[in-house]
Amino acid sequence: MEANGGQIQAIGRVLNDRNRPLKERFRALFTLRNIGGSGAIEQIRNCFNDESALLKHELAYCLGQMRDPGAIPVLVNVLKNAAQEPMVRHEAGEALGAIGEPKVLPVLREYSKDPVAEVAETCQLALSRIEWLRLNDTPENFEKSPYMSVDPAPPLDSTDVEALRCILLDENGSLFDRYRAMFTLRNLRTRESILALCQGLKAGSALFKHEIAFVLGQLQEEVAVPHLEASLRDTRENEMVRHECAEALGSIATPGCFRILNEYLNDEERVVRESCIIALDMCEYENSSEFQYADTLAKITD
Ligand SMILES: [Fe+2]
Ligand SMILES: [Fe+2]
Repeated sequence: MEANGGQIQAIGRVLNDRNRPLKERFRALFTLRNIGGSGAIEQIRNCFNDESALLKHELAYCLGQMRDPGAIPVLVNVLKNAAQEPMVRHEAGEALGAIGEPKVLPVLREYSKDPVAEVAETCQLALSRIEWLRLNDTPENFEKSPYMSVDPAPPLDSTDVEALRCILLDENGSLFDRYRAMFTLRNLRTRESILALCQGLKAGSALFKHEIAFVLGQLQEEVAVPHLEASLRDTRENEMVRHECAEALGSIATPGCFRILNEYLNDEERVVRESCIIALDMCEYENSSEFQYADTLAKITD
């Protein structure tokens, strides 16, 4: 996507404007992600002092998906800042893994022992991913997944759903292997593989379960709806998991998803409420003839 400096600043103003509706700010963020480059990174960086953990975690996610080493200093600062919410720091650690530069290994090693479990586990995974890429240095291993995302772990070379399900659900197994099974099951995309993933919503740490929900959102298959719904409705579940279930329901976008999300617009947890707002915007987008979700560039130019 091409944009000039003035346009990037105008989109950055939408992103950084706390008086704008959150859904507009999200669309501005994804527009900046698609534009890329140092100007876009600077606009995203300015937003890390916002009050919305949801928005901030998405800033970090987008910086990782841009895979621009220019974002590394911003992400390292967020990871190190204990005042940032766990889900924001988690996403910063994951983004550093997605960019995959060996120079971040020392900082990932340091935070792989962080007292916040989500942060520590994320850094352990990122370390394993960078190490794996170093040992498996072939061009196809650096390609994006079929879902156009940079995944925190590479898939395994297997189509055996039952064997993969066992690896996925083994709570004593290594997290990296369980993630590898997760992305393999996603890529297989059969009814059985999706149901195996759904079982994962009940089998692991908050980090693991939130990633399962994320993957189910990428799959956009209706069989997952009752499982995602159950975790969203469970108010004892970790907010990061409930958030990701809400967003997955937003991308599946059936009329049933729409109804469930509307029920949680006033949830006690801010992250859950805001996720429902964003998820409903995605629902609307999925059900509309809108040309693109990340549309702020077109909007500021007309
Ligand atoms: Fe995440
Ligand atoms: Fe998330």
